[in-house]
Amino acid sequence: MSDASKREVIKALNAFLKGEHMAIRSYDEFVHNVQDHSIKKELARIQQEHKQHAADIARRIQELGGKPQESTGLAGIMAWAMMEVAEITGQTDLDIVKRALEGEDLGIKSAAKVVEGDLDPVSEKLVRQILSADQAHLGALRELINTYENSICCDGSN
Ligand SMILES: [Fe+2]
Repeated sequence: MSDASKREVIKALNAFLKGEHMAIRSYDEFVHNVQDHSIKKELARIQQEHKQHAADIARRIQELGGKPQESTGLAGIMAWAMMEVAEITGQTDLDIVKRALEGEDLGIKSAAKVVEGDLDPVSEKLVRQILSADQAHLGALRELINTYENSICCDGSN
């Protein structure tokens, strides 16, 4: 791989890493604010996977001779940045899970964009693995929403 294409890959991976950091930070808020214990546990599990992904991307950037983006990049992916603490406070568990779902959806779109670019095979494999994990997150969040909505609909209170 030429130095120029290495630099391009490092740049793309760093942009992707920034999104993971945003996700981790958002999940901090989600986990903190959600009331239901089992939802909290599931969101914490998903956050843990994002932490693992961030570590994997950072390691790959270093292998390529780059410097991983620090965790507090402010000009990151807008969608995650829009999830301010103030917006989350006072929301129901369902609202919060729906927000996480929106975030994952945007994360997937951003990962798909990274995959479309010119990556070396090792980096591409890594991004694809993360992409499929994010799709699993989407599924897990949808299931939480279904469970939540069913419990409201069918507990006899309405
Ligand atoms: Fe995810």
